[in-house]
Amino acid sequence: MSQPTESAPSPRSTPYSLADLERDSWHQLVLATQQTKNHEDRSGFRTMTVATNTPDGADARTVVLRQVDAVRRYLWFHTDARARKVMQLEAFPNATLLFWDDKSQIQLRLTAETRLHTDDYVADEQWKTLWVGSRKMYLSAPAPGSEQPAPYPGFPPELGSELPSEADSEAGRRNFAVMECRILSLEYLQLGRDGQTRARFQYEPDRKLAWLAP
Ligand SMILES: Cc1cc2nc3c(=O)[nH]c(=O)nc-3n(C[C@H](O)[C@H](O)[C@H](O)COP(=O)(O)O)c2cc1C
Repeated sequence: MSQPTESAPSPRSTPYSLADLERDSWHQLVLATQQTKNHEDRSGFRTMTVATNTPDGADARTVVLRQVDAVRRYLWFHTDARARKVMQLEAFPNATLLFWDDKSQIQLRLTAETRLHTDDYVADEQWKTLWVGSRKMYLSAPAPGSEQPAPYPGFPPELGSELPSEADSEAGRRNFAVMECRILSLEYLQLGRDGQTRARFQYEPDRKLAWLAP
């Protein structure tokens, strides 16, 4: 009779279909947008690197993953409408979104077509969900990335560590933007002591799931 194994089964050692792996990957992204009590319980997928194209090459930065629609395969993040990434994505809407979760040793690499929302229902609805502490960052008079004569905190310096009132925070709405990312493909990689698991889930132009050599 075989002995039960000590270690938890990994996708490599259990019969695991591409469809299972795809569903789990999207589920992990959805979970990452949900609040956790403890900082240690936070998923690494809560933030992602957004890589954009510029005439001079690639550019990249970290953003917070705000919302996920696993059925329609959309992600959303928030940004300042005056930010450089917004200009870059307006000029060339395709982006790569890169996630890494240290606990599960999983990297997700997504390609996306983006669409900017500023003065519309989508941005209005997301703005309503923001607490004043997050809204404070949209009160900056200088545009993000503009040169300053001295260190600038990213909000009117007179606010200091205070929060704006709900009414005052509304001034930030004109700088607030939501970037919608329609996912074209998702590539999964899990590192493991007994090997790696790599797969690609392609959605455009046609749906195609494939295991890949790591
Ligand atoms: C942990 C972390 C989370 C961040 N989240 C966001 C975010 O959700 N949206 C955003 O626009 N910038 C966010 N930033 C700042 C960006 O990384 C970047 O510095 C800023 O948006 C300017 O980028 P750009 O000049 O390429 O537009 C975050 C930075 C860090 C370190």
